[in-house]
Amino acid sequence: MIAALKAVHIASLAVWCAGLVALPLLMQIYGRRELLQTQAGYAEFRLLSHRAYTRLVTPAAIIAVAAGTVLLLALDVLNAWMMAKLVAVSGMVLVHAWLGNLIGRSREERGDYRLPLPILALPLALAFMASVLWLVLAKPDLSPLIDSLPEVMRSPQERDLPPGLVPI
Ligand code: HEM
Repeated sequence: MIAALKAVHIASLAVWCAGLVALPLLMQIYGRRELLQTQAGYAEFRLLSHRAYTRLVTPAAIIAVAAGTVLLLALDVLNAWMMAKLVAVSGMVLVHAWLGNLIGRSREERGDYRLPLPILALPLALAFMASVLWLVLAKPDLSPLIDSLPEVMRSPQERDLPPGLVPI
């Protein structure tokens, strides 16, 4: 069961990571060709970027996170490196969301919109992916780092939530 979950986790995250590399390249290089100035070229680019994002890369990301969450609960690995990994995964999610925003903004609409450089997503995605992979494969002992944090960040403060933040 665990082996099957890990297989699903790794297969889907391979697709997700490939998407986070391919989408910035697709939008930066393919999306700025001369042919894109024509209606047919633009329609092809929109279909390719939109479908790749909504039908392949986003579902792969959801499956990777879902399988990872089930693994987390099944193996009970709530170590410091896993928490650090989740922070780095959040970075991947932010890059993913930014790419989605760029793809959404590149649609045909009235007015003028200058797309920020999509290639900027590539070094960020690579840095977060490398951090996640290093943390999960090396499983480093982060206790010296945690010990160096100020006391206030290491122990519960037992304070009540401000009334505005009480959820119910
Ligand atoms: C919310 C997102 C995620 C959660 C909750 C999660 C959780 C987990 C858990 C619990 C394991 C098993 C660890 C163990 O056997 O000690 C695992 C394995 C793994 N994860 Fe994730 N993961 C997530 C996202 C990712 C991402 C985005 C990547 C890569 C970029 C990744 C790469 C891996 C790899 C390579 C393994 C296999 C490690 C091994 O078997 O030694 N995970 N994950």
